[in-house]
Amino acid sequence: MDDSSEMKAVISEIRKESKGKPEELIPLLQRVQSKMGFLPEKALMEIAGITGLSPAKVYGVASFFAQFRFHPAGKHMVRICRGTACHVKGSNRILNDIETHFKLEEGETTEDMLFTLETVACFGSCALAPVVLVDETVRGRMNPSKTRSVLEEIKKESEGATSDPS
Ligand code: FES
Repeated sequence: MDDSSEMKAVISEIRKESKGKPEELIPLLQRVQSKMGFLPEKALMEIAGITGLSPAKVYGVASFFAQFRFHPAGKHMVRICRGTACHVKGSNRILNDIETHFKLEEGETTEDMLFTLETVACFGSCALAPVVLVDETVRGRMNPSKTRSVLEEIKKESEGATSDPS
């Protein structure tokens, strides 16, 4: 299914199941995001229509919560902890290095759609500070060069996977 037919399917699903109440706003946003991976503008408009809220209100609520994104995420999520323990141990240096090296900022996705970079308040693994989560894997005691090599490795694998003719 391509993106637009997937979105049509998601919208018709939420239209059927929704009772058209403003209180449904957040569950509907969550539903669309979990199906599409982000909130396309068209879906926000549809949700406004369904709940009877203004598009500005829908957009305002969605932007308030960090869990919602407005652009498709990359293939791999890179989350750098900014909690106190990680900050003290240099998580900012990791963040700056990754931003510079991969030419993206927090919340953005690389042009090749391989990585999306986010920061998180605390992973609850402070003993391992500074912590970087790449997809579901928690990596502790990281530094800029270790983090960069993990990501470079993933990049190399993905380039190998796309150029492998077999
Ligand atoms: S502060 Fe980073 S894991 Fe807790």
